[in-house]
Amino acid sequence: MKVLVVGHGAREHAIAKKLAQEDLELVAAMSRLNPGIAALSESVEVFDINDPAEYGRFRDVDLAFVGPEAPLAMGVSDRLWELGVPVVGARKALARLEWSKTYTRQVVQEHGISGNPEFAICRSAEEVDAFLKDHEEVAVKPDVLTGGKGVRVTGDHLNSVKETRGYALERVKQDGLVVIEEKLKGREFTLQAFTDGKRVEVMPLVRDFKRAYDGDKGPNTGSMGSFSCPDHGMPDLPLEAVEKGIEIMERTVEALSGSVGLYQGVLYGGFMNTERGVYLIEYNARFGDPEAINVLALLETPLSEVGYGIVEGRLPETRFAEEATVCVYLTPEGYPVNPLRDQPIEVGETRHSEIYYASVYDDNGVVKTTGSRSIALLGRGGTVSEAREKVYSDVGNIKGRLHYRTDIAAPTYLSF
Ligand code: AMP
Ligand code: GLY
Repeated sequence: MKVLVVGHGAREHAIAKKLAQEDLELVAAMSRLNPGIAALSESVEVFDINDPAEYGRFRDVDLAFVGPEAPLAMGVSDRLWELGVPVVGARKALARLEWSKTYTRQVVQEHGISGNPEFAICRSAEEVDAFLKDHEEVAVKPDVLTGGKGVRVTGDHLNSVKETRGYALERVKQDGLVVIEEKLKGREFTLQAFTDGKRVEVMPLVRDFKRAYDGDKGPNTGSMGSFSCPDHGMPDLPLEAVEKGIEIMERTVEALSGSVGLYQGVLYGGFMNTERGVYLIEYNARFGDPEAINVLALLETPLSEVGYGIVEGRLPETRFAEEATVCVYLTPEGYPVNPLRDQPIEVGETRHSEIYYASVYDDNGVVKTTGSRSIALLGRGGTVSEAREKVYSDVGNIKGRLHYRTDIAAPTYLSF
């Protein structure tokens, strides 16, 4: 059995690592060679993975996993299905949940699903002003894929009405429209689920740390680390809130399956638990990065079995080990604003944790940094503190001009 993994980040390294434990032949498609994935694969193809026309070479593959959002948004899943290759990863029309904020808000609204905040889709200065007149604090969201960097929120990035208006109008000019929402206040949480388009299997909850520096300071990043707990929940999150989030995801999958075809893949829901209830912030049509690393390390059901279940509409129940995980990302110094690129990294032995390669490249046998996150380490243990100790005891063995947060999953983030 030949299984293809598309993508070259740490998330795809986690997918490949899991599949490599199973009895199958792993094939990798990457735009940039990830040494971790390459070491696990029987064959590796390096090309522009966002170009559906490139995929003819994979006709003989039995099952594909598409990791990142960009190839999903470009229709790579559609192309693979056309070639007769079943895919874990939403087709373009459904991956739209991630790249179009207006689409998501409309699907939720039209199907009477709860979870939408007050929002407006604005196409003119008048529409922007009308919403801002009634809402002092807002989130401004471009309607295109922005690599997680396009959303700006009052108080975090926008410090006056003038600035908010300016950004909203800039996006209208650039994209033709923008979504503005009321700012939600509460505790953010995310749910990742496998779905075959009918049933939703939720994975253990993972919390990530988006800010670049300790104490949740500094600019937002793709995420500097993450943790999960042995009971698969989060200490500060009531079960009812999780159940509400699951219900919103189930109803969304059900709503989609009628119109555009089955949603088959991974759905990632970002939610806010507020005093007024649970609200949907966004959907992603993929695993989170690094959240994938946390959950896939714990997955006990073979991933290929889950994959076949997804594409054949008979998603099995999934089992996850009841252990804690802590993931810490090492990034180039200066990341994300002024990352030091092309710096050598010396990857030593890690005795207590697993290494996942992210955005690095091989320069004649030397691993080097790019402008993005470099390497993730994952520790697991009976408790979060045990998992944390393991990962931090190894972090010094990755040497180079790298930065990492020292407070991922620190006790201050676990007691509420
Ligand atoms: P998104 O790209 O939609 O995930 O947004 C990025 C981040 O912006 C989220 O993780 C939230 O922290 C924040 N955010 C998005 N929408 C809202 C909202 N309506 N209220 C408050 N914060 C939000
Ligand atoms: N860690 C957040 C994301 O992958 O979107």
